Amino acid sequence: MKEITRLARSILPSSILIEEKIDADTPPITADPVQVHQALMNLCVNARDAMANKGVLTIRLEPRRNLEFECESCRCKLEGDWVDLQVEDTGHGIGPEIRKQIFEPFFTTKEPGKGTGMGLSVVQGVVHQNHGHILVESEPERGTLFHLLFPPANEETETEFSSPLHGDGRPLQDGTALVVDDEPAVLAVTCAMLEHAGLNTVAFHDAEEALARFRRNPKDFDMVVTDQTMPRMTGVELIRQIHQVRPHLPVILCTGFSDHVNEENAAEFGVTAFLRKPVELETLRQVLAQMAD
Ligand SMILES: Nc1ncnc2c1ncn2[C@@H]1O[C@H](COP(=O)(O)OP(=O)(O)OP(=O)(O)O)[C@@H](O)[C@H]1O
Ligand SMILES: [Mg+2]
Repeated sequence: MKEITRLARSILPSSILIEEKIDADTPPITADPVQVHQALMNLCVNARDAMANKGVLTIRLEPRRNLEFECESCRCKLEGDWVDLQVEDTGHGIGPEIRKQIFEPFFTTKEPGKGTGMGLSVVQGVVHQNHGHILVESEPERGTLFHLLFPPANEETETEFSSPLHGDGRPLQDGTALVVDDEPAVLAVTCAMLEHAGLNTVAFHDAEEALARFRRNPKDFDMVVTDQTMPRMTGVELIRQIHQVRPHLPVILCTGFSDHVNEENAAEFGVTAFLRKPVELETLRQVLAQMAD
């Protein structure tokens, strides 16, 4: 949660006040930290979008005892003790007419071309995969509070979540990845996922700066992970220039749905692995494991 506050400070305008309220007596949970990180970042980005440039974002962590609720996304009726991770904003709120749709993939109220509508879809996927549920409180014009509720970890029944290691104990990958994405939040999440898999990362928002850094010392890098659609240079162009210096350097290209690069033609552009955004942790792990083999 502290990391989320730190990251939120770097992606939210300074006109938005950020408050962190962490109850130190909260029990631990067992969940994939990178996935939970991604879910919380998506909530912070939505909070930013809902507040335009003014308001308060509160990041809160607290234990909840004997809570009775219905999950906003899977509609299960639940009760008991939970660990409650919250992201609250003072934005425009969610109207009752769209409340039932917000978790649907591709549902967005943004103008065409502005939002993917995948943010909350990813949140609900991540939360349920980690045995959690979601509660939403929202009042039009007042703000919105998302609760991510996870069962407290119980030492006896603690389940193991997938580790970034190969069966034989080797990390999925080692070495250093050059990571490029013009969206700071996406860049941060991609780096977190790669680091979780064992890689060091060197990150750039700007493809030209990334290229300049690469040219300064091409041997510093063992792979490139890049977005395709960026303002000053596309991922494909970046790959072309990098391969002029190091023709065999492995490249993972991440693209949205509308980009002209696809599974069929990706290899023509020198792409080793091709991933659709939003990149899921599990898919990235599979790709890294294949590349390591
Ligand atoms: N904190 C919030 N306050 C008000 N409305 C919200 C909030 N979070 C989500 N919504 C509503 O839910 C919709 C779906 O959110 P989701 O994150 O899935 O997609 P998006 O934000 O529209 O697109 P993207 O995440 O690609 O920018 C939003 O378009 C918005 O209408
Ligand atoms: Mg969103």
